Amino acid sequence: MAEDLTISKGTKEEQYSSLLPQIVALMEGETDLVANLANVVAALKEQFSWLWVGFYLVKNNELVVGPFQGPVACTRIRKGKGVCGTCWEQAKTILVPDVEAFPGHIACSSLSRSEIVVPLFDKGEVAGVLDVDSVDLNAFDAVDQQWLEKIVAAIAL
Ligand code: SME
Repeated sequence: MAEDLTISKGTKEEQYSSLLPQIVALMEGETDLVANLANVVAALKEQFSWLWVGFYLVKNNELVVGPFQGPVACTRIRKGKGVCGTCWEQAKTILVPDVEAFPGHIACSSLSRSEIVVPLFDKGEVAGVLDVDSVDLNAFDAVDQQWLEKIVAAIAL
């Protein structure tokens, strides 16, 4: 397994298409979930320099924070609460162009302006979410959704 990440400087699509095979290679042969999630967030943070990138995992019917990079974050989120709990409840990706316009958004960092949350599925059930926060308004679009969904699909749960 290569432990060096090659950072792409192209378009967003070029950046994701360079990153995805590297993320797959980082996880190859490793079965420990925390180890894999930690490398996924590190790779995303290195490539995109977002404010916060991390996972929340479903444990005892709550989302509990897992591997992440960025400012300290709230530890537990209930189903239906905030963007993460809404993603869990609806079992679909939630794009939030302006966090102030999302009712019930949980502000872990006052610097966060937009957000995308992608569900992780295990046998058809939501097992966790990937949460990404940006300091810029409107930072995420369908391209991010498509690629982040591919990245989480590559994680063996
Ligand atoms: N904003 C999220 C909470 C998690 S932090 O952004 C890391 C939410 O509304 O669920």
